Amino acid sequence: MLATPVADGIWWVGAIDWNLRDFHGYETPRGTTYNAYLVKGAEKTALVDTVKTPFVPELLSRIRSIVPLEEIDYIVVNHIEPDHNSGLRAVMAAIPKAKVVASPVGVKGIAEYHDGLVVDPVTKDDTIDLGGKTLTFLPEPMVHWPDSMFTYCPEECVLMPNDAFGQHLASCERFADQFTGCEPMEELRTYYANILLPLGTQVGKAVDKIKELGWICHVVAPSHGVMWRGVDILKLLDSYGEWSTGVLKDKVVVAYATMWGATDVMAKHIADGIMAEGTECYLADVRSTAFSAIMTELLDARGLVLGSPTLHHGVLSQVAGFMQYVAGLKPKDRFAGTFGSYGWSSGATKQMTAKLEEIGFELPFGDFTVKYALTAEDEAAARDWGAQFGRLAKERG
Ligand code: FEO
Repeated sequence: MLATPVADGIWWVGAIDWNLRDFHGYETPRGTTYNAYLVKGAEKTALVDTVKTPFVPELLSRIRSIVPLEEIDYIVVNHIEPDHNSGLRAVMAAIPKAKVVASPVGVKGIAEYHDGLVVDPVTKDDTIDLGGKTLTFLPEPMVHWPDSMFTYCPEECVLMPNDAFGQHLASCERFADQFTGCEPMEELRTYYANILLPLGTQVGKAVDKIKELGWICHVVAPSHGVMWRGVDILKLLDSYGEWSTGVLKDKVVVAYATMWGATDVMAKHIADGIMAEGTECYLADVRSTAFSAIMTELLDARGLVLGSPTLHHGVLSQVAGFMQYVAGLKPKDRFAGTFGSYGWSSGATKQMTAKLEEIGFELPFGDFTVKYALTAEDEAAARDWGAQFGRLAKERG
């Protein structure tokens, strides 16, 4: 398999996972890549990151298209999550002379993950001189694990920030500017909403540090998806700036599930009420839309309205699962409401309200319930109830 040139003496040598459809609960309809980079100086050569174990042969094959494996002197581990690090031992076996380096937290994690494997730490002031090419390091705890680290080659202005600026996107193209459509930006957004959302403060600080260090970037080469160059880097930084500071729109997400249709009818009238106020609305049944797709819509929405009928005195399991997914991503500064139909016993809306409060949502209005099926009055009441959220979204703008 072949490598792709990134800059003078730097190649992409990663692997393409065309068939991945689920990344720990995050639906990945476009697959992903596990990116690794070969940096070749006049005297030494480094491999920045490895790949998930099944993809090690692909990585080694792409490296061999540039240099024999025995010529690699260093392996840099920017991040120890198994999609990048599980193949480390297999790569080390194929390249036994290479010295392995990671952030100090990464060193500890590698020992824990790989049964006592000892590698060397590098920190902010360390450099590796490859001969006309240098690697410098910036540990970036919680962007997105404690061990996360960025690696930078100043001679070529190439930043290799691992998961930061990544996207789950398998493609023939290696650079975002090779797409005629918006797929890289769409997947960047989905990735941020489903991986980095709870870490906005750390992400913002990381971007500031890159600027403070004067790390000019001609290429931003993340560990998933395509690389960014030229004007795309400005778009990238603008988008991360907005998301990490929590810029929200006049928009409300209506997410729900239904048993016999009444909660579905409620959802649609509520959405009508929201839209009647001139507020954007996104509506999704959590059983037919991936949680990650709904979360992506919530990224810039001020409100979430959540619906479930009552089953066994509580919330439908699919809605409970969605709330748990949202809880992990901790969206801030948003309001919410709960609605649902019931038969002889209610209870779902109270459980949803308690969980959403626990997550940190503001619940400014009471819940909205309907017994059995909706009357014409109930439909009008649903629209009025929804309209409150539409107005509030605009007032907060
Ligand atoms: Fe791509 Fe945090 O792993």
